[in-house]
Amino acid sequence: MVWTWRLLLLCTAGILACPAIGASADGHGNIQVLVAYHSLSGNTERMAEAVAEGVRMVPHTQVVVRRVGKVTAEELFAADAIVLGSPVYWSNMAGEVKAFIDDWQFKFGVFPDFKLKNKVGAAFATGGQISSGKELTMLSILAAMLGNYMITVSGGGAFGASATTEGNSPGIDEQELSSARELGRRVADVAGAVKRGFELQEPLVRSNLR
Ligand SMILES: Cc1cc2nc3c(=O)[nH]c(=O)nc-3n(C[C@H](O)[C@H](O)[C@H](O)COP(=O)(O)O)c2cc1C
Repeated sequence: MVWTWRLLLLCTAGILACPAIGASADGHGNIQVLVAYHSLSGNTERMAEAVAEGVRMVPHTQVVVRRVGKVTAEELFAADAIVLGSPVYWSNMAGEVKAFIDDWQFKFGVFPDFKLKNKVGAAFATGGQISSGKELTMLSILAAMLGNYMITVSGGGAFGASATTEGNSPGIDEQELSSARELGRRVADVAGAVKRGFELQEPLVRSNLR
């Protein structure tokens, strides 16, 4: 109980002491955002670039845009936030994206230490049809992030940014690209706030949270 109140007070103090969202998180470092994606015909890649544009709108951010298979351990662990995008394949994420998530363990050994814990996570998707799996794709990605104790956020849409690319759609439009930028911007804002919040907490409280 005492600890709960203490934590509450510290969090409040942290929020009040925070500079405006978007300012440098620690005064000497930047917010690092990794935008990882799979794309065969370029649609999800376009959305990834728009997400990155949104991240860059926030001062003191650095963004790395990578295909899922090319992400290095250094890039994964240096990131304060990971935004992961997939085309819809059979109403769910592409196998390449799932393989990347599985590699968090097989290649990068995140368990049992939960090495991605407290990183901000978000998702985006492109799908051929209006209602054929984009939301489930984003939710599946977010579920994997939650399983890694990440702090998931939405933006640009209830579950992240998405675009319809086939059928009657003329392809990705400006509104969909704008939703991707909005997602990137929100991820960078939240990642900054989270990083500052943890830095302001005294080490003992921080260790209780881990
Ligand atoms: C194997 C396969 C399965 C697909 N399944 C779906 C699906 O279930 N629902 C959907 O809306 N689109 C589906 N699509 C269409 C893609 O999601 C869509 O074209 C997407 O924008 C492709 O992204 P990319 O250009 O980044 O590769 C499928 C495409 C492929 C190749």
